[in-house]
Amino acid sequence: MRKPFIAANWKMNKTAEETEEFINSFLPLVKDVSGADILLAPPYTSLGVAARLLKSSHVILAAQNVFYEEKGAYTGEISPAMLKSAGCSCVIIGHSERRQYFSETDTIVNRKIKTARKNGLDVILCIGESLQEREANKTFDVLDRQLAGSLADLPLDRITVAYEPIWAIGTGKTATKEQANEAHAHIRQWMRKHKEGADAVRIQYGGSVTPDNIESLMTQPEVDGALVGGASLKPDSFAKIVTGAIKN
Ligand code: PGA
Repeated sequence: MRKPFIAANWKMNKTAEETEEFINSFLPLVKDVSGADILLAPPYTSLGVAARLLKSSHVILAAQNVFYEEKGAYTGEISPAMLKSAGCSCVIIGHSERRQYFSETDTIVNRKIKTARKNGLDVILCIGESLQEREANKTFDVLDRQLAGSLADLPLDRITVAYEPIWAIGTGKTATKEQANEAHAHIRQWMRKHKEGADAVRIQYGGSVTPDNIESLMTQPEVDGALVGGASLKPDSFAKIVTGAIKN
């Protein structure tokens, strides 16, 4: 069985002080949890304080984005080596907000994953369809296209896939557990067909995950965890999602 993997994507929320406050409250709530991997992805400016506070814990530190070049004249960008030295072991790549607001294409996502892996970072690759695409019965085509483009010439080790239907992100409209499982099963099939080691890859669901729906989502055989936005901003809410995700 794949170990549940629960990740917090804070997006553009929390100052360094607020991050410190969160972690000080959150760690005691999950100190005895060993049945799930836990990850926090705060904004860049909180990585330093988070790395210090998480150092002797089992919580993984990640960034929400990275650039695909190693160094140079790229004002405002952050390299994988910088993330490593800031204490990150993982990075989220290809979130739909990056695709939507910052024009990230599958080609860019692919380059980012390559540079991140080369520098020893694990990756959470985000994919997912829009409402329009779902209603036009294009969900599987979109997922296939995103997987083929994002994972071109890449092996599957160090990769977690987050399936995040865009219509479910921040809307309070969660996919049903059947919709999530169906999409995850499709993603797994694609990986089995095109790559080695597909069965070991964890597939997280993302989109309006809360303490109230995590247990139901996790009953599904293909749902290996969650990528959580809004409900990860409060320590008790995120801790409840972590403990609710542990499959019995
Ligand atoms: P949400 O965001 O939980 O607030 O819907 C999830 C995500 O975008 O990763």
